[in-house]
Amino acid sequence: MKLWYVLFVVLVICYYGFAERNMPKKTYIVHMDKSSMPLSYDDHLQWYDSSIKSVSDSANMIYTYNNVIHGYSTRLTTSEAESLEGQPGILLVQEERIYQLHTTRTPEFLGLDESAAVRLEAGAVSEVIVGVLDTGVWPESKSFDDTGLGPVPSNWKGTCEVSKSFAASSCNKKLIGARFFSQGYEAAYGPIDETLESKSPRDDDGHGTHTSTTAAGSAVTGASLFNYAMGTARGMAEHARVAAYKVCWLGGCFGSDILAGMEMAVSDGVHVLSLSLGGSVSDYFRDTVAVGAFSAMSHGIFVSCSAGNSGPTPESLSNVAPWIATIGAGTLDRDFPAHTILGNGKNFSGVSLYSGKPLSTSLVPLVYSAKASNSTSGILCMTDSLDPEKVAGKIVVCDRGGNSRVQKGIVVRDAGGIGMILANTDSFGEELVADAHLIPSAAVGQTAGDAIKKYVSSDPKPVATIGFSGTHLGIQPSPVVAAFSSRGPNPVTPEILKPDFITPGVNIIAGWTGKVGPSGLKSDTRHVDFNIISGTSMSCPHASGLAALVKSAHPEWSPAAIKSALMTTAYNAYKNGEPLEDIATGMASTPFDYGAGHVAPTAALDPGLVYDADVQDYLEFLCALNYSSNLIRVVTKQAFTCDSGKQYKVGDLNYPSFAVPFETTSGKGGGSSEPAVIKYTRTLTNVGTPATYKVSVSSETRSVKIAVEPELLDFSRTNEKKNYTVTFTATSMPSGTVSFARIEWSGGKYVVSSPVAFSWT
Ligand SMILES: *[C@@H]1O[C@H](CO)[C@@H](O)[C@H](O)[C@H]1NC(C)=O
Ligand SMILES: *[C@@H]1O[C@H](CO)[C@@H](O)[C@H](O)[C@H]1NC(C)=O
Ligand SMILES: *[C@@H]1O[C@H](CO)[C@@H](O)[C@H](O)[C@H]1NC(C)=O
Ligand SMILES: *[C@@H]1O[C@H](CO)[C@@H](O)[C@H](O)[C@H]1NC(C)=O
Repeated sequence: MKLWYVLFVVLVICYYGFAERNMPKKTYIVHMDKSSMPLSYDDHLQWYDSSIKSVSDSANMIYTYNNVIHGYSTRLTTSEAESLEGQPGILLVQEERIYQLHTTRTPEFLGLDESAAVRLEAGAVSEVIVGVLDTGVWPESKSFDDTGLGPVPSNWKGTCEVSKSFAASSCNKKLIGARFFSQGYEAAYGPIDETLESKSPRDDDGHGTHTSTTAAGSAVTGASLFNYAMGTARGMAEHARVAAYKVCWLGGCFGSDILAGMEMAVSDGVHVLSLSLGGSVSDYFRDTVAVGAFSAMSHGIFVSCSAGNSGPTPESLSNVAPWIATIGAGTLDRDFPAHTILGNGKNFSGVSLYSGKPLSTSLVPLVYSAKASNSTSGILCMTDSLDPEKVAGKIVVCDRGGNSRVQKGIVVRDAGGIGMILANTDSFGEELVADAHLIPSAAVGQTAGDAIKKYVSSDPKPVATIGFSGTHLGIQPSPVVAAFSSRGPNPVTPEILKPDFITPGVNIIAGWTGKVGPSGLKSDTRHVDFNIISGTSMSCPHASGLAALVKSAHPEWSPAAIKSALMTTAYNAYKNGEPLEDIATGMASTPFDYGAGHVAPTAALDPGLVYDADVQDYLEFLCALNYSSNLIRVVTKQAFTCDSGKQYKVGDLNYPSFAVPFETTSGKGGGSSEPAVIKYTRTLTNVGTPATYKVSVSSETRSVKIAVEPELLDFSRTNEKKNYTVTFTATSMPSGTVSFARIEWSGGKYVVSSPVAFSWT
């Protein structure tokens, strides 16, 4: 009896021990309150270690963090994480989030910076270091040529991490540092398979080489992708230095690695950080990028992030923390026309970066993929969905969506097809994406696509051909807001307008990896030095490079001042006064699409006035969000207690734009509801020549009265500060309604312009 009992107990213990050991583990980022370390510990690492060991004897430290947060990352079961969270000194135990690159993966449109016009003394710019957290770099890219650059800036403390696939000579006076962070990725996925990706700063993907050379690549003459977009490729800050932090791997960009990369970049001495990646949107304290960016900002580092590619859906933004510059995407004035000629004589224009043997001008049979397949995936030309008997020798019309655009051409080719027309559906409208297709292909907008499909179904013997006509410049209107560019309102803090502004992000040519072809597909064995791709991933490094230029002209400016300069000088209308177009609708775009507008680099160098903000302002912003002291410490590392006697207001953060959410009052039939009054305060700092500024307000709506007080601001000294208040008085509007206005301060040669976005919820 007793023996049975003992055996039973032993079995139960073994079972639970075994079960616990086999519970799936996840990576957690553990935020510690370093100030509450018990005196019994000699140093915080010992303390961190014993906190892990107290919940799991098998858990190991992945990283410890001391710059961007106080804490560490480790792998725990859910129950271990829960018991850790209850312990003293632990602020937050946050499951690691995985971030994705904000590119559309396949090559798309093209274009080059209109901001090459910005000419600054190379000397000052060459002191600025742009850190890029991404997939690494291809150091052999000509864009990293360091000819003519002086010695590495003296503040630089970073290094070049050498491995068998990344020689010490990979770094030079342009690419001054390169590191990789894989411990979080490997803790989750196991050791990196070096036959698939190199465990070094080397870029096996292309994305990181593209973003870092967009931000600060050297000028390369005669750059092109298969002769498309021929010209000089240059980064926005062509003389600035690049430091690469590889944090993204085949499986994604892991939060623990991103945090380690940001931690290192801050201590290495970068001046600008560029992150073309994002995750699902969340409170700032749960968002690794937001937390890391806060620390970077507090060190004077400008952080620019992609807004996301989830447009045109409203509220689709990521990276919306107010201490981050959130960058959307617009088009350039460059195009790659391709023409589809049908048997009925009609000629439809589209785009393509196809570079192989063209089709003959004689017409060949045309088929719609929906009629060449017996599965529903046929319509999208998914792998193996096409019937070779119905496709052989023909041009196939495929609908866009579902799989990669270049992949569709490969599916057509594999079924014996000889060409492809890639037709936009509802979700893409008239947005055209040019790709380096492997078979003769043209992308067409929805209108053309519908007409072509109608012809195919109505003609008993439909025929067509596709012709290509290279690169065209001077496309108007441009820029237009890209359909994919993520849109406001701000899903986390509706009182802060996001995105901040747009830069070119469609059909961007920049450096590429030697590891994969331009489509990024395994079956694409072509090698290119430059590639043309699209996404807010491409617009973010434009902003990073431009911030580096502003920083070099004004080394003492804070990140908020630099962002203000880029925002208040941005434009939201074409030269003829028409508002910037949204390609998703073909109609006027709004501040929820472009924020302050499209960047105007030359004006940004001399903005007149700036809306500055420092760490204290953001602490007060977090108080206004009702963050507890513990959560404030998680985000900022600071011991800060909000003053309970003070009324903090989210909308009072000294931001260069205005978002004003009103609540729709549920007025009873006929009853007139009280107008809602919202008051925002702002502080302007003079960074230009002395001037008296006068305010002017333009508004689309009569439902909101806008009163600015005072209406004149007289600045006579540099760095002089003046406050003003704006009172918005609104009558109720139907819920879901939005409207827009603009507040402009004009003085001397300056116009300091801010968008206003009203919404009724
Ligand atoms: C089709 O139209 C384009 C201009 O839109 C023109 O360049 C091309 O020559 C035309 N092709 C034919 C066969 O009409
Ligand atoms: C279509 O159906 C036929 C007959 O069922 C089958 O042999 C063929 O493989 C199918 N084709 C595709 C593309 O699914
Ligand atoms: C913060 O708390 C105050 C008082 O409870 C409330 O009025 C306010 O709406 C809250 N602010 C936010 C952003 O949740
Ligand atoms: C401007 O506003 C700030 C914060 O609201 C305040 O501290 C400062 O005293 C004001 N400055 C002037 C000149 O009124």
